Formats: sequence, structure tokens, C-alpha cells
Amino acid sequence: MSSPFAGKRVILGITGGIAAYKVADWVRALVGEGAVVTVVMTKAAAQFVTPLTFAALSGQPVAGDLFAAAGAETIPHIKLARDCDLLVIAPATANTVARLAHGLADDLLAAVVLATRAQVAVFPAMNSQMLAHPATQDNLARLAALGYLVVEPGCGPLACGAEGPGRLPDWPAARTWLAAALTEQDLAGQVLLVTAGPTQEPLDPVRFLSNRSTGKMGYALAQAARQRGARVILVSGPSALPPPVGVELLRVRTALEMREAVLAHYQAASAIVMSAAVSDFRPQAAAGHKLKKSAPGAELLELVANPDILKELGERKGADPLPLLVGFAAESDRHLEEGRRKLAAKNLNLLVVNDIRRPDAGFAADTNQVTILAQGAEPEVLPLLSKEETAHRLLDRLRRLW
Ligand SMILES: Cc1cc2nc3c(=O)[nH]c(=O)nc-3n(C[C@H](O)[C@H](O)[C@H](O)COP(=O)(O)O)c2cc1C
Repeated sequence: MSSPFAGKRVILGITGGIAAYKVADWVRALVGEGAVVTVVMTKAAAQFVTPLTFAALSGQPVAGDLFAAAGAETIPHIKLARDCDLLVIAPATANTVARLAHGLADDLLAAVVLATRAQVAVFPAMNSQMLAHPATQDNLARLAALGYLVVEPGCGPLACGAEGPGRLPDWPAARTWLAAALTEQDLAGQVLLVTAGPTQEPLDPVRFLSNRSTGKMGYALAQAARQRGARVILVSGPSALPPPVGVELLRVRTALEMREAVLAHYQAASAIVMSAAVSDFRPQAAAGHKLKKSAPGAELLELVANPDILKELGERKGADPLPLLVGFAAESDRHLEEGRRKLAAKNLNLLVVNDIRRPDAGFAADTNQVTILAQGAEPEVLPLLSKEETAHRLLDRLRRLW
């Protein structure tokens, strides 16, 4: 699956909010992913950022005047509305939210919204009091009832100096919503439990045993599944990655905590994908104070084995077809043989093996090259792909098994 935006005709409606400058980034990113972006600005929006900025970034003239081409063969708002795969309004002011909620067509943008059959995504952004006002809340509820995607604004410092809800999301979060709006919801109704990242096994309050996993593969899987309509529960070890949008994130630290979180939620899942790099061992005891270099025996580490969460799930599952169980194995030697052994020994439906000797696959890389093993099937060797693309290919495989 290439970018969901490739070749899509996106109209970006910008209204007169202080966050108008932020969507310059969105235009760049959308164009970078292959979308054809036409910007439509309200009169008020042009008070904040000049149309020239958006024309330069989108490579298309900016539209704004309902009557600009009066008498021409094609009526601008009808043409725009027809040639559109996705209509995004960001930032959406309280004023425009109110206009759209009542079906007004008093400028080009509002007229396009009424005339289009494309999905409309609205990103309200305003001062918290304006947002909380019952009139605005009623209007937003009306927009949702009309079938528009209304994206809840973020929380944080606002341009007016106050702090609270009302912020326009940054592009990575907005991208998730927009990508989902353009993606077939072929995993709707499925519940995916994904584990990601490393675990940390404390030695004392400042030291721990861990590994080089960053969580990139698991987070990509969680995001991709969400984008395709699944409910996703992500159990994550310590990771510096931003939380994926729309995903239920449970943060854990140790293998024992990860086990507890997985066992508390696995029964709700239709598939469990264990991509976390769980430490095989932990220090027998974590000291309550910082260990001294000079302490007797400080150079010796006594370890105990951590539970094998995947194996335990395989045993609990027995012969049940669901939930589907998927393991990940990072191997540096004889990876296919080792993978086949784990697939059978842990009663898994799929095992994703990667050869960590490659510099462009496995830990910390943005790309991955994996082989998917299944009982009684030929190994599926995927090419070197982005982790996002690898995630989609694995989800395609799961979809066929469900
Ligand atoms: C400096 C300034 C910042 C503003 N920021 C916002 C905002 O973030 N959100 C909002 O709903 N309105 C904001 N407004 C008010 C809108 O610009 C005003 O309601 C305008 O009529 C909106 O027109 P439009 O919806 O057609 O773009 C702001 C006004 C000013 C003067």
C-alpha cells in the first residue's frame, strides 16, 4: 500500500483562525505524499496568512471568491466540489463551524462543502471558552451527525495565552485521521493487541537491563491497523515515539508488567501481535538503593528467567482459532529454521522473522525486511520496505486468516 494520499485530490479549506499558519506544513506534507492540493481560503483566513504562501506550497492557485469566475463555463464551487476526494477544513473557526452546521453557503468554502459528496474532515481550533460554549458544542455535534469527520482539538497552550483544549493538531496526528478517511476500513470490527518496544529490568533505581528496540515496528503496526478501522490496544515498553493517534496506549516498563497488561486484555482481541523485544532475563532482585562499585560481589549479576508471554498465550489458546497469535523473532543466525521452531513450539499462527545482521532492518531502522512464516505454508519473503508498509503487508495476511 503506497501513501493513502498519492494521486488524491484534496481541498484544504482554511478559515480565519490563528492556527492558519500551521497548515502550511500540512500542504507541504500532502504534496510531498503525492496529493493534488487546492487551497480555498475564507476572507478572514487571508488576514492571517497570505494566499501567496499556500499557492507557492501547493503549486495551485488559491481559491476564495465565490463570484471570481462568474459567467465562465464551469461554476467554481461546483467544479471544486466535484473534483475532490477529500475536503479538509483546518483550522475551522467557531464561525465556520456554525455556518456549516446550519447549511449556509455564503462564501466559496461553505458552498463547496454543501456541493461535494467527498468526505469532509473538520479540525476545529479556537480559544477553549469558545470551544466549550454550548452553541459551538451543538454545532460540532450537528456536523458529526451530518457525517462529517470532526477531529477533537488538542489540549495545551493556546495563542491567546490560555491553556486548554482548542489547539490544531500537528501534522503527524492530523495525517492519521486524514489517512483513515481515505483508507478502506477493512479491519473494522477487529481488535488488535500489539506489544512494542523494549522492556527495562531494573538493577537498582538508576540502572537497568534492556535492548535496542525502539518500538518503531509495533507503533507502525498499531497505527496502520487503526488507519484501517481496527480497535487497537498498544502495550508499550519505554519508547521515545509519540503515541499513535486513536490507539489505546498502555505503558509498561518490565517484562512482568507487560505480561500483566497483555493477560488483562488479550481476551478482547481478535489478534495479538507481539512485536515487543521482551527481556529474556531480569536481575534476581532490584536493589532499593544505588549499588556501590565497591560493594562485595558488585561485578556479578544474578539473573532469573522472565516468563515467555507468547508461549503462555499459545498454551492458553490451545486449539482455539482466535485470537490469532503473531510473534516476531529477531535472529542473527539460521533465522528461518529458528523461526519455524518457534512457530510450532509456541503454537503461533504467524511468525515474522527478521535478520538483524542487516543494517537496514530490525532495531531502530525505518525500514524492515521480514519473512512471514505460517504452519503448513511457504515462507512469504517480503522485500525491504518501510515499517509502515511492512505493517500493512502483515495486516493483509492477518485479514486473510480472520
Ligand atoms: C487575532 C485573531 C485570532 C483569531 N483566532 C481565532 C481562532 O483561533 N478560532 C476562531 O474560531 N476564531 C478566531 N478568530 C475570529 C475569527 O477570525 C472570526 O470569527 C472570523 O469571522 C472568522 O471568519 P471565517 O470563519 O469565515 O474564516 C480570531 C480573530 C482574531 C482577530
